[in-house]
Amino acid sequence: MPTGIMALRWCGQRDTARKAPNNRAPKPLEQGAPGPYRSGMDGVAFLVRPAEEGDVDRWIDLYEAVAAEGKWIGGELPVDRELQRRRFVDGLANVGGPAAAFVAESDGRQVGQLFVRTYVGIGDLGMAVDAAWRGRGVGSALLATAIAWAVQQGLHKLTLQAWPHNAAAIGLYEKFGFVHEGQMRRHYRRRSGELWDAVIMGRVLDETSPGAAASEPRQG
Ligand SMILES: CC(C)(COP(=O)(O)OP(=O)(O)OC[C@H]1O[C@@H](n2cnc3c(N)ncnc32)[C@H](O)[C@@H]1OP(=O)(O)O)[C@@H](O)C(=O)NCCC(=O)NCCS
Repeated sequence: MPTGIMALRWCGQRDTARKAPNNRAPKPLEQGAPGPYRSGMDGVAFLVRPAEEGDVDRWIDLYEAVAAEGKWIGGELPVDRELQRRRFVDGLANVGGPAAAFVAESDGRQVGQLFVRTYVGIGDLGMAVDAAWRGRGVGSALLATAIAWAVQQGLHKLTLQAWPHNAAAIGLYEKFGFVHEGQMRRHYRRRSGELWDAVIMGRVLDETSPGAAASEPRQG
């Protein structure tokens, strides 16, 4: 995992450093691009915006709460808050490559978060929504914002990993055009000692560049 934004352990991702050769600064988001989005379910408004340094404590609080659920993201308790804080700040400063982080908030409360870290034109994302806010469109709003950012950046692909049992996450990603690209068997060791599979999903953003002849479908 690169040292870019939120090198937190999400989904099935490892907490190891990875070099990010593509070190250009990200383009700023278009003003007014994110939110406010209004929940279709009960009309409760929330706003999606780029994360700022002042969001760090609430970011880690939400991450820790979802980690405590024990079954959705890669992170588990106890969360090393100081390590996460450093990574958040490094990520916002694009240490390790261009990165983006977005928060969803309602009444000053952080109800969702998403990060994308990039390397060689690929964006790797992780996200979480407060348990009380799931199913209200927050994840969709965050993901739509991230995809728009990735397109703006000229990334050619977004990828992520998810636990195979995480039907909500997989459903969300499929809704946004991500496809299953494989499954890594008995890949990540949980603190319980169990080895969990991880599903790899991807969404290609550049369908026009030529592909390698070897990866094109064979004729005949
Ligand atoms: C996965 C997660 C981010 C989805 O966020 P959300 O705000 O609940 O998602 P939305 O309300 O925008 O739902 C969008 C789509 O996701 C899918 N989805 C959401 N909840 C679902 C569920 N319980 N079962 C199946 N699909 C579900 C549906 O396709 C839904 O679209 P629809 O409303 O048109 O049916 C959220 O459940 C979450 O934070 N879970 C815990 C952390 C986590 O799993 N992070 C991702 C790790 S890979």
